[in-house]
Amino acid sequence: MLNGVLDLARKTTVSLIKCDVGSLAGHHVVPQPLFNLAEKSLQEAAKKGLINNFIVFNAGDDLELLMVHEKGEQNHDIHKLAWDTFKAAANRAAELKLYGAGQDILKNAFSGNVRGMGPGVAEMEIEERRSDPVVVFAADKTSAGSFNYPLFRIFADPMNTAGLVIDPAMLCGFKFEVIDTLENKSIVLKCPEEIYELLALIGTVGRYAISRIWRASDDMICAASSVSKLSLIAGKYVGKDDPVMITRAQHGLPAVGEILAPFMHSYFVQGWMRGSHWGPLMPVGLCDSKCTAFDGPPRIVALGFQVADGKISCGDDGEPMIADMFDDPAFSIARSEAMENAVMLRRMGEFEPARLSSEEMEYTTIQTVLEKLGKRFKPLEK
Ligand code: F6R
Ligand code: MG
Ligand code: MG
Repeated sequence: MLNGVLDLARKTTVSLIKCDVGSLAGHHVVPQPLFNLAEKSLQEAAKKGLINNFIVFNAGDDLELLMVHEKGEQNHDIHKLAWDTFKAAANRAAELKLYGAGQDILKNAFSGNVRGMGPGVAEMEIEERRSDPVVVFAADKTSAGSFNYPLFRIFADPMNTAGLVIDPAMLCGFKFEVIDTLENKSIVLKCPEEIYELLALIGTVGRYAISRIWRASDDMICAASSVSKLSLIAGKYVGKDDPVMITRAQHGLPAVGEILAPFMHSYFVQGWMRGSHWGPLMPVGLCDSKCTAFDGPPRIVALGFQVADGKISCGDDGEPMIADMFDDPAFSIARSEAMENAVMLRRMGEFEPARLSSEEMEYTTIQTVLEKLGKRFKPLEK
């Protein structure tokens, strides 16, 4: 069978589920004992055959569980595995007196799906192609709408993705599902026809977030991202949502290089210190996946792998083979730009536009401060 043609339509699910269960040195990084616990938990699940294989990694203070299995999306047992792992890790974090232990565990009892309980989820059930390259992204100190910009560049912008012009398999364009996170509604827009309408929505990154993308000619799923808003779940500020996403690449889809190209430059995202500031997103390798200056700058990691026979494909040692995509000098200009912009924004302190607009600040603890002042305001005399 030709490369890229569906191979017996084997259905495999990639689940990337994350949670801030507590971290070392403030909201800085996931420490080793929590990795050990998560590894052990997923190893046992793999032995029982619930998942086929997995990778545990971190985006700053977020523990990321990348699991490949054949149980489909939103599967009770897979979500319970993630939930139990996060709960156990949060308990361990509490024992170790780590900071913010259980930060994203917003509900007590598991209700069948981690969506709406605190953790972030990106999931994609795919019909495996002969060779299926996948890139997953995880960001820290930012929110769901932060992926709108790169997803638009990758799947709708011919100035980024040459394949939209050169590859006949992509001329049909892509369909974008956009979630209105305030009103809990969704809409599907087709590009290139509705490119302007799409931009009209997704430019408002604090409200609208792209959740799924399909190739228009055959509805092949090619991207999925987490769109949860912790503040809307908890009804108060509980940190930013630190989103995750999964993209499929090559052979009639954007190439891995086209998926990574938007990150050659830094761009501004909401989040950073106290989830209340605009900050430059910095693409980093796993070794730099930890937030420092002003709790940032917001960072993003990207892991590339092949999905094969229901698994992340493995090397001779039986371990999943993973490419740390941003651990590369090709992204050093983006990193320098991020730091130049970071120092410029920080010079402005608490003045907009360094700080988020008052509308966005509604979801932060500044409201308590403002409420106190409210009573002291007197009407102006005419
Ligand atoms: C942002 C974040 C941090 C904290 C900040 C204050 O998502 O997690 O920037 O908001 O460190 O944290 P607390 O209020 O826990 O002292
Ligand atoms: Mg934290
Ligand atoms: Mg985080």
